Amino acid sequence: MKKVTAIVLAAGQGTRMKSARAKVLHEIAGRPLLHHVLFAAFEAGVTDAIVVVGFGADEVRASLASFGDKVRTALQPEQRGTGHAVQCALAELGQDDGEVLVLCGDTPLVHAGDLKRLASALEAAGPDRELALLTCRVPDPTGYGRIIRDAAGSVVAIREHRDCSPTERAIDEINPAMYAARTAFVRAAVAKLEPNNDQRELYFTDVVAQAAAGSGAVAVVVEDAGSLAGINDRMQLDAAERAMHARIRDGLRRSGVTIRGDARVDAGVEVGQDAVLEHGVVLRGATKVGRGAFIDVGCVLTDVTVAEGAKLSPYSVATKSAIGARAQIGPFSHLRPESDIGEDAHVGNFVETKKTKLHKGAKANHLAYLGDGEVGEAANIGAGTIFCNYDGFKKHKTDIGPGAFIGSDSQLVAPVKIGKGAYVATGTTVTKDVPEGALAIARVKQENKEGYADRLRARLKAK
Ligand code: UD1
Ligand code: CA
Repeated sequence: MKKVTAIVLAAGQGTRMKSARAKVLHEIAGRPLLHHVLFAAFEAGVTDAIVVVGFGADEVRASLASFGDKVRTALQPEQRGTGHAVQCALAELGQDDGEVLVLCGDTPLVHAGDLKRLASALEAAGPDRELALLTCRVPDPTGYGRIIRDAAGSVVAIREHRDCSPTERAIDEINPAMYAARTAFVRAAVAKLEPNNDQRELYFTDVVAQAAAGSGAVAVVVEDAGSLAGINDRMQLDAAERAMHARIRDGLRRSGVTIRGDARVDAGVEVGQDAVLEHGVVLRGATKVGRGAFIDVGCVLTDVTVAEGAKLSPYSVATKSAIGARAQIGPFSHLRPESDIGEDAHVGNFVETKKTKLHKGAKANHLAYLGDGEVGEAANIGAGTIFCNYDGFKKHKTDIGPGAFIGSDSQLVAPVKIGKGAYVATGTTVTKDVPEGALAIARVKQENKEGYADRLRARLKAK
């Protein structure tokens, strides 16, 4: 396979974001803008990428660690224009006779398919052609570079808005700033750039006129102009995120997922066939939802695996946890990191779990805190049970055997073990291990004083 390197320009600050963070690190659908562009480029078949960094370089570099050695960075110490940015990238690329895709880090909605068409258009035009570019028509071209064509319809140049004549300003075909080109050509062409424009910058767009004067520039017109929009401010960030979420929802619907209303599923989340996502559900990070699972209104899951047929009732929140097949969670459950809820297990309202494993069929249906524990198969945890896991210095484990029964309002002072099939009587504070099959009871014996309530009431009334 041919080597195609993406060069992604991302050195600018993005002044209109009014942010201390580089523009390309702002996120939509759970990923930085820049990452969306890289994912699209890799999906389109690029072999590696060089990101040009400048403003917030260290942060941008750090965010790219997840791509491994497929993505390198090149520093552009001063933003002297898009042409200068490409020069910086080429210095990092070194000698190479392949091709480059030149892209911007702030166009997160670009379709991988359009980038693929762009690269193929250059291939199809034959080895003598040096450059292909995407173009599109927009209702309001203000601010964009315009595509200048000759009488025969061939692209001859790109003119920046501020450098356009009034006639050129009327052109509604614009430059979304995505190009495919032979690396050797780009190397020679950017070396010839001059800052003879309104901003005194080196414009990469001037490379197009060089290609046109040679073998001709190939234009690929994109229909979905919205997918090429660049993000410059937080209104556009919001609009792009809505568009991305709508795209993800429709993709899932096509694969057999029912999504009601406006569930927000972030990029990279997987949802199996016949799963149902209700209105207001938020799925983030590396979340995976199995076939036929039902996630009801308002659930928020971050890095959670939900197995087949599990049911989450409204407003349950889970993070870095696993939920087993056919398990039932909520309403109003809180699964904190490292909760592992086994198949057919139940976790009910106002139950908080953390670093706790519930084995198959175990139940904690109401009002409990289960931290640093293990609950055996089919064990039952009564309402108000607390695993007292923390002594102010260290966390300790509560281990409950299979089939055990923990009566309501019990406190289990860890470290502690409750044996298989044991009973803990309601209201017991357990400080010692309970053997298999035993009953633990630790509460004051009840005494009934006949007639005492009536006498007490009479006395109080007389005062
Ligand atoms: C650029 C194009 C314009 C096109 C528009 C599409 C040029 C000269 N103009 O204009 O034709 O219609 O994009 O959005 O290329 N960057 C660097 N280093 C620099 C300058 C820019 O890395 O020195 C990066 C920015 O971070 C950004 C991208 O390049 O991601 C585009 O730069 P920007 O300044 O936004 O270019 P535009 O003026 O929008
Ligand atoms: Ca821009």
